[in-house]
Amino acid sequence: MTKQEQKNILVTGGAGYVGSHCAKALAKAGYAPVVFDNFSTGHRDFVRWGPVIEGDVRDAVALKDAVAQTRPIAVMHFAALSLVGQSVEQPDLYKQVNCGGTRNLLDAMTTSEFSGNVPPLVFSSTAAIFGEPDVDLIDEAAGKKPGNPYGETKLACEEMIQASGVDHGLRSACLRYFNAAGADPDEEIGEHHNPETHLIPIILDAALGRRDGIRIFGNDYATADGTAVRDYIHVSDLARAHVAALDHLLKDGKSLALNLGTGTGASVREVIDAASRVTGSTIPTTDAARRAGDPPRLVADPSLAYKLLSWQAVRSDIETIVTDAWAWHRKRFTPEITS
Ligand code: UFG
Repeated sequence: MTKQEQKNILVTGGAGYVGSHCAKALAKAGYAPVVFDNFSTGHRDFVRWGPVIEGDVRDAVALKDAVAQTRPIAVMHFAALSLVGQSVEQPDLYKQVNCGGTRNLLDAMTTSEFSGNVPPLVFSSTAAIFGEPDVDLIDEAAGKKPGNPYGETKLACEEMIQASGVDHGLRSACLRYFNAAGADPDEEIGEHHNPETHLIPIILDAALGRRDGIRIFGNDYATADGTAVRDYIHVSDLARAHVAALDHLLKDGKSLALNLGTGTGASVREVIDAASRVTGSTIPTTDAARRAGDPPRLVADPSLAYKLLSWQAVRSDIETIVTDAWAWHRKRFTPEITS
């Protein structure tokens, strides 16, 4: 079998949270994921569905070699830094990794070697490109005014990708996740960052006694219970969306930019209550000041993704998200209980 027949998909950042779930979904759909990752935030034991090339997206030569070696029929690009707070402290680093990495990848994909046959690209984007739109449901036409360097770099990447469409005929899907959450229902992979800043893993750490409790950042927002509302989308639903976008592009479909969420929000308080029910633990909470840059409410209008890809979330009610996250979290951090 030639490499092209193997249906190789180069997956940058495939050892990370969303990237690893997508690599698994790709393998299940009959594709051959080849991960490119520097393991700065990803996990070696999350690479289970194909080979890995160890490398950094800032290294243009390494990326070019990976593309040449893999001869991918398509590329999925997850490798990036994604912490809003860190991006405010280190904006230049975010430009180097997120923008520089995407530039290097686009250059590697659009070399003369591929002329006339540039492989399509699925890009990991974010709701952070929108900033704080004053609408109940954020659709693709909403104004893009990122409120932090992380969102700015991701928006700049989307623009670079669109420009490569004009200049080189690259077809792409930019997928803007709202709040990725949950874990693989088979409990093989899940959400684990170091340091952890995300709401659900922090709550589950508190339920396991690995932390004293959780600070609720802001209880005076103009929301039903005063805490911030987000659109939590199960990482397995996101993975299905990536495969659907890839299938679309491989059938010569047009470039897309889609908001991926559920259309329903949950408040911090509602997530904590769901976690108390699922874990059977009382989660100690403390009220704290609002976190800088946190919008009160971010909820997607996912109707375009349904119209164009027939995709919708099927596993993203907050109870299911927390149940799946809890099963993996417990197994990962207290193996003696579950083994
Ligand atoms: N929160 C707390 N206490 C905590 C942690 C979080 O109250 O200890 C709150 C946050 O203030 C926010 C909500 O829980 O209101 C969700 O916070 P996360 O940190 O889990 O997620 P964010 O909404 O801040 O960020 C996510 C992604 C980012 C992306 C952003 C898009 O993680 O990559 O959505 O808006 F940029």
